[in-house]
Amino acid sequence: MSVAKKEYKRVTVKSLVDMKKRGEKISMLTAYDYTMAKIVDGAGIDVILVGDSASNVMAGHETTLPITLDQMIYHASSVVRAIHRALVVVDLPFGSYQSDPKEALRSAIRIMKESGGHAVKMEGGKEVKDSIKRILHAGIPVMGHLGLTPQSIYKFGTYTVRAKEEEEAIQLKEDALMLERAGCFGIVLEKIPAKLAQEVAESVSIPVIGIGAGNGVDGQVLVTHDMIGMTHEFNPRFLRRYMNLYEEMTNAFTQYGADIKSGDFPNDTEQY
Ligand code: KIV
Repeated sequence: MSVAKKEYKRVTVKSLVDMKKRGEKISMLTAYDYTMAKIVDGAGIDVILVGDSASNVMAGHETTLPITLDQMIYHASSVVRAIHRALVVVDLPFGSYQSDPKEALRSAIRIMKESGGHAVKMEGGKEVKDSIKRILHAGIPVMGHLGLTPQSIYKFGTYTVRAKEEEEAIQLKEDALMLERAGCFGIVLEKIPAKLAQEVAESVSIPVIGIGAGNGVDGQVLVTHDMIGMTHEFNPRFLRRYMNLYEEMTNAFTQYGADIKSGDFPNDTEQY
C-alpha cells in the first residue's frame, strides 16, 4: 500500500539528525519531476534530492555543469507539488554560488521562494565555507557534498574514486568537520573509500549519506533512473539495479509500435 495515503509525519532536517542518533539509516533518491517524485515519496523514501544530475539524466548533457538555476527551480517545484512526507533537498547548480557569498545567498533564496524546496545542497569544503555560512545565517538548511564533486569534473579529469591518497583524505575529514561546525544538517559523500567514509560518519553528529561510499555511513542515495535501470550505459560498482526498466520499456514501446502497424491497437473495447 502507498504510504503517502496515510498521515505521515513530514521528514525534517531535525528528524534526520534524530535518525542518526537512533542508528536508523536514512534513504534518499533523486527526482526531477512530479510523477517520479510522487512514486518515490509514496514508497516512503526519507529524502528526495532534486540533483543537478538532472543535467545528465533529463537533458542529456555530458556533465552537470550546464544546468541553470531557473531549470533547477523548474524541476524542484514539480517535485515539491508531489510530495507529502519526504524532505526535498535541491542542488545549487554550478555557477550559482561559487563566485561570492552574496550570490550564493541570492541563489539559495530563489530556490526556497520559487520552488518551495526545504533545503539546498552544495559541493565543496573550505572553498565554499563563507557562502555556506551566509546561507545558513538566512535560515536556509544546507547539506554539504564532498568526495567526488561532479561540478569540478574538469579539475579532477575523471569520475574515479576520490581521497585514496592521504593528503586528500585528511582534507576531506577537515572539510566534514568544518561543514558540521558551520551548521550543515548533513553531508553527501560521493565515491570515496568505505573506511574513510565510515571514519567521517563517526566523527560528526550530522547524518552522512553515501553514494559509492560503503555501508558505514548513516544513509544511502542513488540516482533513481540508474537504480530502476532506465539508464543502462552507466555501470559503476556501487550501483545496485532494482529493475531493468530500459529493457521493459523498450519491449513495451516495440510491442505498441507493432500493434499499431498490425491494426491490433486499438481493439473494439478500446474505442468509443
Ligand atoms: O546530483 C545528484 O544526483 C547528486 C547525487 C549523485 C548525490 O548530487
